[in-house]
Amino acid sequence: DHIGIAVKDLDQAKKFYSDMLGMEIMGEEVVEEQKVRVCFIPCGDSEIELLESTSPEGPIAKFIEKNGDKEGIQHIAVRVDNVEAAIADLKEKGVRMIDEQPRYGAGGAKIAFVHPKATGGILLELSERA
Ligand code: CO
Repeated sequence: DHIGIAVKDLDQAKKFYSDMLGMEIMGEEVVEEQKVRVCFIPCGDSEIELLESTSPEGPIAKFIEKNGDKEGIQHIAVRVDNVEAAIADLKEKGVRMIDEQPRYGAGGAKIAFVHPKATGGILLELSERA
């Protein structure tokens, strides 16, 4: 569905994708619950999601801190038809989840994260689009 990239400065990152690469920026939104400001950049059949932390305590700020103060790819998202069903299916198969209940994702999506320990080190988002 998309690749999530943690950035320090969303406006600066947007400028690179729009002005340098000529890509279209869409759906900018603050998701308070996750302490992020995000936007989406359609790219072929997928999208790039840029995420800037709105707080030093947020998961994106923590990711950048743990990543040696560097921006970079933070998660990969796959689209699912029904996120509740996907969570139930994975739990039944013994897959470790971060979210056992769906949460709100940007653009009105319903999302849940799978634990990186279950995926070979990738933070994997399940995304049901509205
Ligand atoms: Co995402």
